Amino acid sequence: MMKPIIFALPGNEDLAEKLVVRLDAELGQVIIRRFPDGESYVRVDSEVRARSVLVVSTMHRPDDKILPLYFLSRTIRSLGAEKIVLIAPYLAYMRQDTRFRPGEGITSKHFGALISQIADGLVTVDPHLHRHSSLSEIYHIPTRVVHAAGHISEWIRKNVEDPVLIGPDSESEQWVSEVADDVGAPYFVLKKIRRGDREVEITLPPVEAFKGQTPVLVDDIISTGRTFIETVEQLRKADFKPPVCVGVHAVFSGSAYEDLKKSGVRDIVTCNTIMHETNKIDVSDLLVAGWTKLT
Ligand code: R5P
Repeated sequence: MMKPIIFALPGNEDLAEKLVVRLDAELGQVIIRRFPDGESYVRVDSEVRARSVLVVSTMHRPDDKILPLYFLSRTIRSLGAEKIVLIAPYLAYMRQDTRFRPGEGITSKHFGALISQIADGLVTVDPHLHRHSSLSEIYHIPTRVVHAAGHISEWIRKNVEDPVLIGPDSESEQWVSEVADDVGAPYFVLKKIRRGDREVEITLPPVEAFKGQTPVLVDDIISTGRTFIETVEQLRKADFKPPVCVGVHAVFSGSAYEDLKKSGVRDIVTCNTIMHETNKIDVSDLLVAGWTKLT
């Protein structure tokens, strides 16, 4: 049987190479670039006929990626590939999951419909499932979701002594409780009110008992960083030690990373679902497991 072949969209090369090694696959040769007028150029230089293809493209800043991804996938299909699976470790548009105001687009659904036309299957890490209970509500192709919680627990066990885990809002309780359980540490969850894109209010419950321990904040997405920055501030006021911030997806919009670094944290750690200097937790084995289940 022919080896699977893996293509990386620009910026996904490191992860694609890890997957090539883990799957004993071939690295696909592709050229994706922009013409001076901003249009995309795509050329596939590897044989894909009758082969199982993986396309690695994290969907951080999705609007810039979706068209090159579409062109690559259509090109691969037109060259006779048997099956195309999108490995999108970070899935975008998951937070636009309802009509908050009349007339708004439920873009999670539209994005799901679009991706469902681009690939035959999807593997992703901890998508932000809040009002949608599963990806099958918005994706019309087989999907596999893998979870970083076990890898996060392992990192905490190896790197933080006497931790107390903290989830910034009620949605985070699902994975914070799992990580805490795994680590064998206590946890608590904060009350968060989001007043705008960059305005977040965080309230600490009574947490006197945990003051001597090292706070470890765990969340799925770090975007503007305001959730973590406000939490760090509340913990500082309550005389906690400087916290370790762990996010699955290093979205870091604008100056978020610099702002969070300056806020008085001990460490910032993320998974390699979006390439960033804080990537200390490798989830490539989880993606391989997800792809294997899909095939
Ligand atoms: C929200 O519901 C998520 O779980 C994260 O808490 C949120 O995306 C973090 O965003 P930001 O870094 O912009 O506060």
